[in-house]
Amino acid sequence: MIRQRFLRIFWSSLILYEIFCLFLAGIIRDHSPSFLSPPLPGLLAGTFLLATLLPLYLVLSFRGFLPRRRSLNVLFFLFYFFAGVFLTGLLLSEGIIAVHNFLFPGSVIRGAVRWTSAETTGGLLLLALFGMALFERVRPPRVIRKTLFFPCLSPDLSGTTILHLSDLHVGAWQGEASLKRICETARSLSPDILVYTGDMIDYRPDEARIFERIFGSLKGRLGTFAVLGNHEYWTLGEGAPAFMKSHGVPVLQNESRLIQKGEGRIRVVGIDDPAGEGVCQGCGPDLARGLRDVRAREFVLALVHQPTLWEGELKTRADLTLSGHTHGGQIGGRRPFWNLARIFFRYDAGLFEGDSPALRGHLLHVSTGLGYYGIPVRLGMAPEMTLLTLSAAPGVSFPSPSPGPGSASPP
Ligand SMILES: [Fe+2]
Repeated sequence: MIRQRFLRIFWSSLILYEIFCLFLAGIIRDHSPSFLSPPLPGLLAGTFLLATLLPLYLVLSFRGFLPRRRSLNVLFFLFYFFAGVFLTGLLLSEGIIAVHNFLFPGSVIRGAVRWTSAETTGGLLLLALFGMALFERVRPPRVIRKTLFFPCLSPDLSGTTILHLSDLHVGAWQGEASLKRICETARSLSPDILVYTGDMIDYRPDEARIFERIFGSLKGRLGTFAVLGNHEYWTLGEGAPAFMKSHGVPVLQNESRLIQKGEGRIRVVGIDDPAGEGVCQGCGPDLARGLRDVRAREFVLALVHQPTLWEGELKTRADLTLSGHTHGGQIGGRRPFWNLARIFFRYDAGLFEGDSPALRGHLLHVSTGLGYYGIPVRLGMAPEMTLLTLSAAPGVSFPSPSPGPGSASPP
């Protein structure tokens, strides 16, 4: 599994790196004095080495074999961002030139002009994306509304609203003004149930205080629940569950709570994050413990941070599973479009339904989250919260998961 993931990241990195190098070499060749121009083979060899080491470091650090260095994570994601921009610039430019050459065979564009055109397109694209990223940062979070149909849902539960917040990453790249805007938007939705699916904080223990100060008074009418994410464990270690609870976060650690609404019952099950495994006693996912209180005719709402936990027993036992972690890759679009998360995760963003007849109607929702990881940029994956409404009446269809490659690692 690790080998597969590494190879996938490696080849993606390599292709993007080489395109990036060609651009860099072209720019250096055309715009700098000759004594500064490095030989092209040296440049390609150097970046080939980086393309090998950086993804390897990332995979190993997330597996706990190497220390996690925030600066190297930033470098990895910056590479994807810039290399992706230049690759798109190159493809756009080549497309325009191909059309031009086809239409005007008498004035064919070739040689150095081709490079300059590709560089200009890449530069303009970079400027446009910078503007878009800035816009995404200052506008209010997007609210996605979905109505989910469950044929066996008690009529008393029909209309129940669940506000799903995930991956706030309170910290350096998530300022207080932005957090207050998120909180006020969430408050205005007045949900029955409020859930956080992990990564409330980013990298420092004192971020829990900021979370408590801003979100402490935000509650769901029937209950508020949370599970821990990898960032809580990375930051707080074995004290993560107790520390977050002491800061007002209603953490469910392989345990459940019952919500009664008329004759309807919702069993909220929180499964702990794999990042807690081996960190402390009772930490890490324990499905048997988390599900032990589930009774017949209860609607099971499961909370996990990483969507991979949906595979296996949870998919069978839970009617609806909510997760986060992927951030939708922060760059790209939702299916059928590509996004960065699809390199790492089978379940990248949005709704998925069980893939066998027996599991039809068992749903997973992956939130793309509200915060930032790696780089403080989102393009096409705006910060979002999801208001889910449970319904006992039909009227909504769901995409099935693609038979994509494995899953799990970063955010
Ligand atoms: Fe996250």
